[in-house]
Amino acid sequence: MHPDCERILLSENEIAARVKEAGAWLEKKFAGTVPVAVCNLKGSAVFFADLLRAAHLDVEMDFMAVSSYGANAVSSGKPYVKRDLFSSVEGRDVLLVEDIVDTGRTLITLRQFFKERGAKSLTVVSLLDKPARRVVEVEADFVCFSVEDAFLIGYGLDYAERYRNLPYIGILKRSVYEK
Ligand code: IMP
Repeated sequence: MHPDCERILLSENEIAARVKEAGAWLEKKFAGTVPVAVCNLKGSAVFFADLLRAAHLDVEMDFMAVSSYGANAVSSGKPYVKRDLFSSVEGRDVLLVEDIVDTGRTLITLRQFFKERGAKSLTVVSLLDKPARRVVEVEADFVCFSVEDAFLIGYGLDYAERYRNLPYIGILKRSVYEK
C-alpha cells in the first residue's frame, strides 16, 4: 500500500467485479444503439477504459474536462468546462462516465451542458457516490459504489495530480492535505 494511504477502501478485485456488473448493465441499456461515451477527464480515465472494455457494445469515445478542484481537498465552487468535446453530440445518445459525484455541482453542470448541445439522451455512470456531501439534488443512473465522506485516491482519483495510477481506491491520510 502507498505510504500516503490510510487504508484501502476498495481493492483491485472488488473494483473489477463491480465494473463487470456495470458493463453488463450498459450492454442491456444500449443494446441496438451506438452511444457516444464521454470521459470527464482526468479522474474518470481509468474507469472509462475498464468500463468500456467490460461492455460489449458499439460505442464512440469522446473526452472533455470539467473541473472545480484545484490542488486541494475541498471543492472550490462553480465548475467550468476546461476542455470541450472533440465532436458534436447533437441528436446522439450520450453515456457520461464520471469518477465521483461529490457535491453534485459538476454533474448538474454537465447535465445542462449536454442539454444545450442537443444530446438525444444522457445516461450517467459514476464509479463512486458520496451522498453525504451532496449540495445539489442530482444522481447518476448507475453507481458502482456509494462511499463514506473521506478524501479518496487511486483508480483515476488524484490529490494534487498524484496517486491516479494506484490500482485500488484508498483513503488519503489527513496529514498529507493538512500539512
Ligand atoms: P462535485 O462537483 O463536488 O460533485 O465534484 C466532483 C469532482 O470532484 C469529481 O469528478 C472529482 O474529480 C473530484 N472529487 C470529489 N471527491 C474526490 C475525492 O475524494 N478524491 C478525488 N477527487 C474528488
